[in-house]
Amino acid sequence: MTPTISLSRLRANIEALSAFGRQPDRGGISRFCWSPSHEKARAWLIRKMKAAGLATWVDPAGNTFGRLAGAGDASGGRESKGAARRGARGARRARGGHAPTVMTGSHIDTVPNGGPLDGALGVLAGLECLQAVAESGQRPRLPLTLAAWSDEEGRYGGLFGSRCYTGRIDPAQVAGIRAIDGDRLVDAMKRAGFDARKAPSARMRPGEVAAYVELHIEQGPHLEAAGIPIGVVEGIVGIRRFRLAFIGEPDHAGATPMARRKDSFLAAADYALRARDHVVRKGSGRSVTNFGHVEIAPGVSNIVPARTTLLQEMRELDARILGRLERECLALARDVARRRGCRVRVERVSANQGVRCAPRVMRAVAEAAGALGLSHRQMPSAAGHDAQNLAHVTDSGMLFIPSMGGRSHRPDEMSHWKDIERGANVLLLSLLRLAR
Ligand code: HGY
Ligand code: MN
Ligand code: MN
Repeated sequence: MTPTISLSRLRANIEALSAFGRQPDRGGISRFCWSPSHEKARAWLIRKMKAAGLATWVDPAGNTFGRLAGAGDASGGRESKGAARRGARGARRARGGHAPTVMTGSHIDTVPNGGPLDGALGVLAGLECLQAVAESGQRPRLPLTLAAWSDEEGRYGGLFGSRCYTGRIDPAQVAGIRAIDGDRLVDAMKRAGFDARKAPSARMRPGEVAAYVELHIEQGPHLEAAGIPIGVVEGIVGIRRFRLAFIGEPDHAGATPMARRKDSFLAAADYALRARDHVVRKGSGRSVTNFGHVEIAPGVSNIVPARTTLLQEMRELDARILGRLERECLALARDVARRRGCRVRVERVSANQGVRCAPRVMRAVAEAAGALGLSHRQMPSAAGHDAQNLAHVTDSGMLFIPSMGGRSHRPDEMSHWKDIERGANVLLLSLLRLAR
């Protein structure tokens, strides 16, 4: 008898997790990685994993794992004494035998004032799937592992935990990683009991993961508009983030004639509007860009803005187009700055490569949806996900469920519980197919 998930238990877990970092005054959830609310949520998740019968461990990059031994497991992935210890040794023991595992997961950190499902759905539906398998008494040939990746939302740089796990972090860069408010990653991890310098040692063993499949909300309007309950993700966008500092001249905001001003804010604003139009006109038609953060110095009304810093993000599935758009926008920035008597300094903040999902995983998801009588469609992901790092080390893919009103990264992010149940059951069948 094929196991099925318990929606009531999954719903209770989603609602319980959403309490960590809840902002009563603003209605959303702020659970930044390494923060006290995130670490309390991590401890809660580990308790839930243990109660589900999983061997648990936390690696040096702050990724939290739970593992269900497979039928083919020599060591059975027993819960070892120190397994929860934050060390590679403890992790190695808990990782059990050397059968490659089929992995699922997502993240429990959130954006500022975010919603209850982004990341949390994938982690808790994954927990529900492993618990349902454990309770069924069946053991798939390969072990099943659940991962909660650290700092997916990038308060300190984006997909950090899965970059460390897949060996895609430059150890020399770790010391310099800062949040937008200047908080250093080293300090944030230290407050949570981690040594950031050890994070790159979380790198997986070659061949450790046989396949990875992640359930996530679509975070856009397409599935709901089409009335289709399951999205089979075919690719995940590449994301480039860079900081542009436009440098003009501070001057008296009253006495300086308009023609003599070197106003850095106007240069930045002029660039932002032109860059947006350029990406829309010269991109793939799905290319996107936006400016999520602006700083003006000295930042008072009676001094002409001397320095205006923009944080720009650009996304596109095709790496060639993304690289071309980045080059063209940076040339545009220099041109606008010059025409407005300013200079511009550009610093790249992060770059995640776009990936295609593995046909084997896409097939498993499509077959699982079909077996449940659910219509499904292939679609790209315009959001970044940990699955794109896993795609460099194993067969990796994702499935989406519809987002109500296409809303996400906001307090009223939500999906219908019926869609949540469908997505979790499709994830369960996908995992069992991949672990056969
Ligand atoms: O920004 C993203 O695409 C994801 O939500 N981290
Ligand atoms: Mn997410
Ligand atoms: Mn997100």
